[in-house]
Amino acid sequence: MKAIYRIAVDGPSGAGKSTVAKAIAKKLNIEYIDTGAMYRALGLKILNNGIEMKDEDSIKELLKETEIDFVNGDIILDGQVVSHLIRTPEVSMAASACSAYPFVREKLVKAQQQLGASKSVIMDGRDIGTAVFPDAEYKFFVTASDEERAKRRYEELIAKGEDVTFEQVLVDIRQRDYNDSTRAASPLRKADDAEELDTTSMTIDEVVDYVCSKIK
Ligand code: DC
Repeated sequence: MKAIYRIAVDGPSGAGKSTVAKAIAKKLNIEYIDTGAMYRALGLKILNNGIEMKDEDSIKELLKETEIDFVNGDIILDGQVVSHLIRTPEVSMAASACSAYPFVREKLVKAQQQLGASKSVIMDGRDIGTAVFPDAEYKFFVTASDEERAKRRYEELIAKGEDVTFEQVLVDIRQRDYNDSTRAASPLRKADDAEELDTTSMTIDEVVDYVCSKIK
């Protein structure tokens, strides 16, 4: 029987977690699960329903009728592919806001645990090494300076034709860092047994090779 293993990749917004995790998944032939996409899908649904972020009761009701899944790497919200709709600045903020609700985290963390229960996975997010898989075989905490992260995110948004300025992206990144690391429920923090990787002056290939060299 083949042993399964989980690789947890946590860190702040724009640190390159998803690019790196996707490449590692391909190299190791395991599944990549983007947990941020799950919070984004819910954020999108809240926005589309015109619900205010502070309206906890309505979000609770909405969550009861919400199904979020992955099929062939695409994120599926209530049966529809929404991968192409969840990378806007508005959805980023909505994801960060709704992810602070403990009842949201409870449902999505359970779904994530099921996704990684019976196969080897690399999962990226904020709380994978601390809450989703505290017993993950491998844990990395990927960071970069806030200017470098804003630069990467800005270039990504511009390439997609979004109308944004670097300054706005930097302000948004700092705001999300603040939200994600100061919330009461599973705030962003490095697990004690995670290895920290500052990628400010590393290329994607260097990070991928480094992580793969650690996987036995
Ligand atoms: O990784 P991302 O930027 O796509 O995540 C979007 C938001 O979702 C992020 O601001 C915080 C939240 N998130 C979380 O709270 N826990 C996770 N495991 C993943 C994302």
